[in-house]
Amino acid sequence: MKIIRDIPSLRGQVRRWRGDSKTVGLIPTMGSLHAGHLSLVRQAKLDCDFAIATIFVNPTQFAPSEDFDTYPRDEARDIALLEEMGTDLLFSPDVGEMYADGFSTSVSVSGLSECLCGAARPHFFGGVATVVSKLLLQSLPDRAYFGEKDFQQLQVIKRMAQDLDIPVDIRGVPTMREDDGLAMSSRNKYLSPEERSVASTLYRVLQDVAQKFADGANAGAALAEGVATLRATGFDPIDYLEIRDSETFEALKTDNGKARVFVAAHLGGTRLIDNAAVPNQVVS
Ligand code: PAF
Repeated sequence: MKIIRDIPSLRGQVRRWRGDSKTVGLIPTMGSLHAGHLSLVRQAKLDCDFAIATIFVNPTQFAPSEDFDTYPRDEARDIALLEEMGTDLLFSPDVGEMYADGFSTSVSVSGLSECLCGAARPHFFGGVATVVSKLLLQSLPDRAYFGEKDFQQLQVIKRMAQDLDIPVDIRGVPTMREDDGLAMSSRNKYLSPEERSVASTLYRVLQDVAQKFADGANAGAALAEGVATLRATGFDPIDYLEIRDSETFEALKTDNGKARVFVAAHLGGTRLIDNAAVPNQVVS
């Protein structure tokens, strides 16, 4: 696996590959890789001739009170995992390469960015949209891969690429889960053994709300019960537990066939997020 840390070398390599009529898939990450990230690499390898992973812990998507400094970093381990997966190139720039002195531009996606995680973390999607648009323009891949665990992020990035005419196909890949259902996340490392043993309640609540909604139960009652279960398990605060349209993020009271349940809640000092589709009704 080639390791590149500067933008001109990245551009040169991708230009050569594309000049040979090869296709390129990009997997943007912040490192601390787990099986969820590796499933993105696997999908890129299936779809494209070459897979490029990026590792960049992006300061602009963290608020000053958040975990930028303590975010888990282990590049040697990440490199070994990417090599095992047959990744062709790692782009791992430093902060100065991505944000040169005088950097003054930000990309903001209105509407989709404003609810759910955007309400709880107002800085977040601007930072993500800015860094992802830069990574896409630096590498100009054919496709780019993002996990559905960050479902709102995926939709914001799709909108951004479409609005800015960036010629890339943005692909979502299903969430990878631990055996008990907890969505894989680099931040799961922060959980104490006690917190880890109850963390999968988040997914059980999502499934329960999704099933009740599909069965026609009152949405407000199903959500209130879900919040009560999370509180009883020790989640506090709960940023949101909501049912929304999976494309527009409009809040839903009845199923429109595109409903998804979204949750973000804190367990100890760790903020966990997850989401689940409302199962489709079988019409007999
Ligand atoms: O999902 C992530 O790890 C990050 O938000 C991303 C997309 C790599 C942008 O920094």
